Amino acid sequence: MPTVSKINILVVGSGGREHALVQKCLQSPMSDLVIAAPGNGGMASEVQCFDILVEDVAGIVALAQQHLIGLVVIGPEVPLSLGLVNALEKVGIPAYGPNRAGAQLESSKAFCKDFFARHNIPTAAYGTFTEIEPALDYLNENPAPIVVKASGLAAGKGVIMAQTQAEAIAAVHDMLEGDAFGTSGKEIVIEETLYGEEASIHVITSGQKFVCLPPSQDHKRAGEGDTGLNTGGMGAYAPASRITSQMQTEIEEQVIKPTLAGLKADGIDYRGTLYAGLMLTDKGVKVLEYNVRFGDPETQVLLPMLADDLVPVLLASAKGEDLPVNLQVHDGASIVIVLAAGGYPESYTKGEVIEIPKSLPAKSALVHAGTIRDEDGGIRTAGGRVLGVSGHAATLQEAASLAYSVCDQVHFKGKYLRRDIGHRELNRT
Ligand code: AMP
Ligand code: GLY
Repeated sequence: MPTVSKINILVVGSGGREHALVQKCLQSPMSDLVIAAPGNGGMASEVQCFDILVEDVAGIVALAQQHLIGLVVIGPEVPLSLGLVNALEKVGIPAYGPNRAGAQLESSKAFCKDFFARHNIPTAAYGTFTEIEPALDYLNENPAPIVVKASGLAAGKGVIMAQTQAEAIAAVHDMLEGDAFGTSGKEIVIEETLYGEEASIHVITSGQKFVCLPPSQDHKRAGEGDTGLNTGGMGAYAPASRITSQMQTEIEEQVIKPTLAGLKADGIDYRGTLYAGLMLTDKGVKVLEYNVRFGDPETQVLLPMLADDLVPVLLASAKGEDLPVNLQVHDGASIVIVLAAGGYPESYTKGEVIEIPKSLPAKSALVHAGTIRDEDGGIRTAGGRVLGVSGHAATLQEAASLAYSVCDQVHFKGKYLRRDIGHRELNRT
């Protein structure tokens, strides 16, 4: 990679993922200044944060211009789907993430499924609908158990796993006729239920070149034993040994390369993260979905595992330049545990005082997600997922013990966490 002089970096977003990105950028010898918008209580203690919403494309572009930003790192999907990368490109500022056309892979499940079909990428059989009658006909031919999904962005909540025909029919009516998920549910995908274990692969691409991060697994359900409501993610770990090196090669050949070639063939210059949510079925790997950004909380385990400087890789991706063939990864395993507000993902209180230990043990880290900083510097809860505690060690068991020991030293009213993060991997080893 060519040597580049120091740059100013703007991280866009306010969650644990963005705090982990800020921390990784601060470690880079290439970063001169790191700022964030809008940030959170933890980021505000480390870098200057600007109160600009992620949806405010013009505001973010102006902020980047004022601070002579050389790289904007965009965390969440919403600004990507609003064309923030396109707007920054117009004023000559490199931005990490796909442009609006590329972001459709996540912002429209219908677009994504049609893309899979067009380019022969293995996925669940499906139909897409905007009208009730054809959707009900499809359900008649393909009865429950079946999955009904709002096509548009729904913060991970627009997926109904219907066990009975009545539930499937109700979901179709709620989305297309009712107001479940608003405009995001006015187009739906109905698809075959896949069975197996889920895992994800994060790919960083600059177009046709790509490099993979270690395979990871997250825990989306609120309750232990993967029960209860779906959340943004209650914890994650890496590497997921369920993805063997042979399977990794299969994924790269059958999923990643055809995706990048397909995007090119469709005239989309895709750069940034491609996060493949996979189901490892007994008939091979199938793609459940693509996200067009780093996972949250997966980022909190993946970035601390990287021995390499991330900034030159993100910048090369943003500029469409060559990427390293491999990234240097520390040996061992990483885990992150999410500390949530009691009641999440349903209603929960905000404004609770948080006590955080003054120093953390080696190889552990704490990122803020839903927090704010008081005027006097105190930290309070301000969201459902409040903090993420990560640990790195030779084995997943040791990493988990380390992270949970830190979790037990963090206090706020209503603190909720799952005690079984990584259980599948722990039961394998
Ligand atoms: P998605 O946002 O499409 O990834 O769906 C969210 C979650 O719903 C996934 O992580 C799976 O746990 C589950 N899911 C989605 N589609 C399917 C499917 N076709 N079969 C089984 N589970 C699914
Ligand atoms: N942890 C799942 C996601 O970021 O989509």
